[in-house]
Amino acid sequence: MEDCKNILGIESSCDDTSAAVMCNGVLVGQATNTQEVHAAYGGVVPEKAARAHQNKIVPIVQKALQSANLPIQAIDAIAVTQGPGLLGSLLVGTSFANGLALGSNIPMLGIHHTRAHLLANLIEKPRPTFPFLGLVISGGHTQLVEVRHPLDMQLLGTTRDDAVGEAFDKIARMMNMPYPGGVHIDRHAIAGNPNRFTFPIPNVAGLDFSFSGIKTSFLYQMRKLATQDADFLTTYHNDLCASVQYALVTSLMLKLTAAVAATKLQRVVLGGGVANNTELQRRLTALAAEKGWELFIPRPSYTTDNAAMIAMAGHCALKAGMAPVSSVTPHPRMRF
Ligand code: KG4
Ligand code: ZN
Repeated sequence: MEDCKNILGIESSCDDTSAAVMCNGVLVGQATNTQEVHAAYGGVVPEKAARAHQNKIVPIVQKALQSANLPIQAIDAIAVTQGPGLLGSLLVGTSFANGLALGSNIPMLGIHHTRAHLLANLIEKPRPTFPFLGLVISGGHTQLVEVRHPLDMQLLGTTRDDAVGEAFDKIARMMNMPYPGGVHIDRHAIAGNPNRFTFPIPNVAGLDFSFSGIKTSFLYQMRKLATQDADFLTTYHNDLCASVQYALVTSLMLKLTAAVAATKLQRVVLGGGVANNTELQRRLTALAAEKGWELFIPRPSYTTDNAAMIAMAGHCALKAGMAPVSSVTPHPRMRF
């Protein structure tokens, strides 16, 4: 598609309704609504997420087009998240995109959400060159990926239980912190002692991850402290955050180091909300400098769920000659 210039990206797989416009790979407009309804429930409630997407999808797409100063007639392709994600949420995004594409006679592209998290690193300079080693760390995914080309990615390892962001959020909830709790653990950990408590670093074979052991051990530690000090959460809050974060981050670093050794890829590229963790960034930056790796982490608005990464994945797909389609069916468990 030589003539394709403007791509409208639409993301609705979880709790962010997002739209973005990209012109020949350059972001020219975007709008995102992060749903706040879930905070009161301590996690994403699928039915409420779908309803909130339904409320926001039209104004968010309009806002993105307005910020790009382009009418819908100027859009050459619509890239929409096909999966993985929550069925109801994906249905809102894909159904809206299908209707818009049919009504305006625009071709479509179904985009894989976690692959797009890695391609988010192409939105701004400095951009990684291919091939690279990708690590997607979000509320729903923990994946090590060999990325040979935007359309040629191989999954090397994934979590056997909770995603790392999910572990952060569940542990934060045990300490009565608001959802999503990862960022709160991060902030409290800054003033805490990471050596105050010890949590087990999982020993899973190969390049797979596991975080449920740390979570359970944390619960037992809290119960033990509660028998010693009724006010333990106030006394040890920062130390608990720093210590558990140390274990979670160490687990990620060990697997990443093993993946670099296995693949010989020394260009390391992060994606997903947990990539914003300051302790992870600090330790990874030091390790990369020591080992001579190149390290890429997108800015926060491109690590968390956003449509700019979906538009970028669409741009890469078209550039690589992928054929557009006339409609996209959601795949909640879309394979990598
Ligand atoms: O990529 P994302 O916005 O959504 C998914 O695709 O899941 O990631 C959200 C996850 C949440 O679990 C949130 O707690 C975590 O990213 N997160 C963090 C930090 N900022 C966001 N976890 C640890 N430290 C942070 N600074
Ligand atoms: Zn995501």
